[in-house]
Amino acid sequence: AALALRGTLVHCPALGQVDILNDHLLLIDERGFIAHVSPASSESSQNYISQHHSFVKTLPPGSFLLPTFCDLHLHAPQFMYQGTGLDLPLMQWLDEYAYKAEESLDQKPDLAKKVYHRLARRLTEVGTGAVLLFGTIKTETNLILAQEMQGAGVRAFVGKLSMDKSSRPTYRESSAEHSLKSAEDFIQRCKASVAEFVEHQRLVEPVITPRFVPTCSDELLEKLGELSQRTSIRVQSHLAESYGAAKWVKDERGIEDIEVFKKHKLLKRGTVHAHCTFLNSQELDELVANQTAVAHCPLSNVYFSEKPFPLREALDKGLLVGLGTDIAGGYSIDIMNSMRQAVAVSRMREGVRAIESGSTPTVGSQARSLAVGWKESLFLSTRGGALALGLENSGEFTVGASFDAQQIYVFDFESSTAVGALDFFNLEAERKSELTIDMIEKWWCMGDVRNRIGMWVQGRKLL
Ligand code: GUN
Ligand code: FE
Repeated sequence: AALALRGTLVHCPALGQVDILNDHLLLIDERGFIAHVSPASSESSQNYISQHHSFVKTLPPGSFLLPTFCDLHLHAPQFMYQGTGLDLPLMQWLDEYAYKAEESLDQKPDLAKKVYHRLARRLTEVGTGAVLLFGTIKTETNLILAQEMQGAGVRAFVGKLSMDKSSRPTYRESSAEHSLKSAEDFIQRCKASVAEFVEHQRLVEPVITPRFVPTCSDELLEKLGELSQRTSIRVQSHLAESYGAAKWVKDERGIEDIEVFKKHKLLKRGTVHAHCTFLNSQELDELVANQTAVAHCPLSNVYFSEKPFPLREALDKGLLVGLGTDIAGGYSIDIMNSMRQAVAVSRMREGVRAIESGSTPTVGSQARSLAVGWKESLFLSTRGGALALGLENSGEFTVGASFDAQQIYVFDFESSTAVGALDFFNLEAERKSELTIDMIEKWWCMGDVRNRIGMWVQGRKLL
């Protein structure tokens, strides 16, 4: 093995399930995949430990390993103005802020490099090991983005924007044909940019990215649909995001954007659509039938979507859902916040539903409640996100999975002190020197970057 770790593992093998695997041995092979995981007391673990005791790294008892987070929706160029300019509705915001900022990065490669370098650093800091990115229009700028992510060791799916229509005349591609050529060119060059690495070290992949229906002609969407059929490259876009966007499409084309995507074969396995707040039950079924995943971006929805995503209903249908930050429609790059916001919004939905239907609210996450619990959100941010990205061998600690993990430190048992903002008092666990589910819940609520003391992607240590 290339790496041998002994300590507590925490992961979510299924929705709502948080497993604490105390005192386990984890072996990682030279290619960054998990080769062994079992209790340290098991015979196979004991054999290994006795033969390689000096090589085995023991993690402090108040820390645990957790799969890295997946961020399913982030606009890399908008990182530049994250946390500003949230005073407008979506369509005006795009026009006033987003397109301008993106255009400026396409004109200034040095600035792009600086912004993307910092973005990769921040992602590592907040525990995001895999990210699905929207870039800009220009191929070269997206290659800088790909290079920065690969260099930082972050698993990244990079989308060069395809848009042959825009409210900003200087920020669009001149024709559908030109746009398609440019998308093909990016795919080829993005792949070439990592070709020098052996396969398991290639962390970056291109994604076909029609921005959203309002910025794409039918001709372009048709060509991109064909391209995705031909190459089986992932697709991402925005779907049914806001009142304004939905109205725009309906007024212009007479049908909803989901119909437009469907017509052009852009609802399919390997596709992640952001938001989907305006989809009805039947339309959600359509996504399930087409194995299309949703990037749920709860904070951004509060600003731009006018209504919440029906998360419980989507999960009940078996829809593939993960979480996204939607920088800069959302202002926090930390998926911990997306988890908290997803839970908060769902609880409010349950209260409103109950009161409006004349029943007693059951907000505590009982069965049949619209409220989603923290354990469910932890699944969505790790294993759920991996599944949405089609990364079947990722997001949990099993043999054969890629070792994408973060080390979270919550309590120093030796000095009896909590780490960061967690302030534990007289917990059972303090006496037992063992992590409990309460401690993990507290971290989920109140933890921050101070609790993250390690990070690996594909076995490579980033933090
Ligand atoms: N729809 C089309 N483009 C964008 C964007 O940049 N951000 C968000 N939130 N929605 C969009
Ligand atoms: Fe977005």
